[in-house]
Amino acid sequence: MSSQIDHLLNEDRRFAPSEDFAAAAVGTADLYHQAATDREGFWADRARELLHWQTPFTKVLDWSNPPFATWFEDGELNVAYNCLDRHVEAGNGDRVALFWEGEPGDERRVTYAELTDEVKRLANVLTELGIGRGDRVAVYLPMIPEAVAAMLAVARVGAVHSVVFGGFSADSLRARIDDAGAKLVITADGGYRKGRVSALKPAVDLALADRNGSGVQETVEHVLVVRRGGNDVDWTPGRDLWWHEVVPAASAEHEAEAFPAENPLFILYTSGTTGKPKGILHTSGGYLTQAAFTNRVVHDIHPESDVYWCTADVGWITGHTYVTYGPLANGATQVMYEGTPDTPHPGRWWELVEKYGVTILYTAPTAIRSFMKIGRQVAQQFDLSSLRLLGSVGEPINPEAWMWYRSVIGGDRAPIIDTWWQTETGAMMISALPGVTETKPGSAQVPLPGITVDVVDDAGQEVGNGNGGLLVITEPWPAMLRGIWGDPDRFVETYWDKFAEQGFYFAGDGARLDDDGDVWLLGRVDDVMNVSGHRLSTAEIESALVGNEAVAEAAVVGASDETTGQAVVAFVIIKESYLKAHSPEGLAQTLRAWVGEQIGPIARPRDVYIVGELPKTRSGKIMRRLLRDVAEGREVGDTTTLADTAVMSVISAQVK
Ligand code: PRX
Repeated sequence: MSSQIDHLLNEDRRFAPSEDFAAAAVGTADLYHQAATDREGFWADRARELLHWQTPFTKVLDWSNPPFATWFEDGELNVAYNCLDRHVEAGNGDRVALFWEGEPGDERRVTYAELTDEVKRLANVLTELGIGRGDRVAVYLPMIPEAVAAMLAVARVGAVHSVVFGGFSADSLRARIDDAGAKLVITADGGYRKGRVSALKPAVDLALADRNGSGVQETVEHVLVVRRGGNDVDWTPGRDLWWHEVVPAASAEHEAEAFPAENPLFILYTSGTTGKPKGILHTSGGYLTQAAFTNRVVHDIHPESDVYWCTADVGWITGHTYVTYGPLANGATQVMYEGTPDTPHPGRWWELVEKYGVTILYTAPTAIRSFMKIGRQVAQQFDLSSLRLLGSVGEPINPEAWMWYRSVIGGDRAPIIDTWWQTETGAMMISALPGVTETKPGSAQVPLPGITVDVVDDAGQEVGNGNGGLLVITEPWPAMLRGIWGDPDRFVETYWDKFAEQGFYFAGDGARLDDDGDVWLLGRVDDVMNVSGHRLSTAEIESALVGNEAVAEAAVVGASDETTGQAVVAFVIIKESYLKAHSPEGLAQTLRAWVGEQIGPIARPRDVYIVGELPKTRSGKIMRRLLRDVAEGREVGDTTTLADTAVMSVISAQVK
């Protein structure tokens, strides 16, 4: 990491917004002043200005029982009404909400009026199925308009969605369904990925397969299935329902009931440092306020004229906040694309930018780096002149990728915003304002107005400009997680115990302040990996590996990778009993595939090394740092704390 820091320290390029951009920008320098004068008043103004409250709130923040916060507690609103009906009532029903494009090239234009109609019908279906306030609904769908409609309909009836990324396995889906106690699963037969139909319904069937004797009480009563892939599916009569049969048949009349601001809106599972994913809980009023505000000022949304495109899947937090909630609350028009960036050809994204005249693009560094790798000529075949703003999210963006993005995609004209935030923060926390900030390639730079962060040492002391340490958030924020589903202790322990004395939220990221006080993110400081902008836990993959009959022990590290940021590298010890009966040939491949099946293809290790031992301290803790050295092809660091100092040379030899 030190070479990376040196490299970043030498970065002195600066890019000020053009006068034209600054003059028309929604976010102005004034916001910083307002927020600095009266932070809570600032957020209250945003909540009133950006949202419709059926019952206006009188309280802003309640932080009397930290770390459990409430925002706008006595206010009431309906999240779906804010994202849909009010735009129709304001005369914008004909505005396109979604320019949807399927991977095979089929298209759908969904207006605000049409989306509202669909959500109202679906809300009636949910009510008929017994789904009401507080019930949990799992959503396991491809990137199709029904995914957005499903989230909004669940919100509309005051229930709680748990969207599970379609790339997760049946086991991962089952764990999430069980943890949340979901009553309904909304899925599809399948969706298009990489030129073929990838089935989803079989994973739901498997997840819900007869669990007699497993000790788990089945909570799921129904499965609502969208027909998208056209693939054959098994059917459980009484449990399974086709969307196209029940939704169009339901009434399009549906009154949006008011729910308290702190009504849970969704649970989204993310990886932590243990094997069990955490169900991050978000609520309604504060979350929607910060989602709408950040989308408005950081993405500089002008709803009448912009065509916005966030490339994230709704299965991740970026898709929740910047596909579903933020842009729809702002009445924006957006592109939604079902498939992979390189199907059927490597210029697919750029073709879509040209076709729809995309003005704002929000994506992940890993995508930019893979486009860099295939060369600028692919993107340059298309007219990208509509783009006026570019965004980055999910992992640190290296200055080379930033510069490439700016010049090849942005025509040296469009500002870049590098946005730091997390599933837990709910919405952006650190980012330039594109009409205000002079940007620096590779730095997320400044906390947004109303957000306060710092970089501190292990004891919670400010490190000051020019120094590195741990990123903390020093004051509660509206979109902050309200807890971990079913596990308040883990919530406190994971995020708040480390700096309990100061009351800081510990983000888990290393960061550095430059001489101007701008923040440079340096990656996770815990056992969480970031692969292509997706969070994976070393412990979760290790536990999948040891679940294989051949594996005695496993250690997983995130090794730096040119394209994906980090890559999963596993070191495994094979059981002697297994080796007596089987040949080890092909075992590494088998284990890679195994992890893919257990968790999902994103977790599949890039490399699996079969070794005889793992480096452990005297107390038995695996020293991942040393394994990372091996995985990254570096000289192995200090081994003096190992129980057996010779073990690393054995491992290095075995890996070679
Ligand atoms: O390490 C940080 C990294 O992604 C983590 C959060 O992952 P997740 O909850 O999956 O949310 C990703 C999308 C918001 C953070 O702890 N991260 C996210 N954005 C950035 C980043 N690292 C550096 N720069 C960013 N802009």
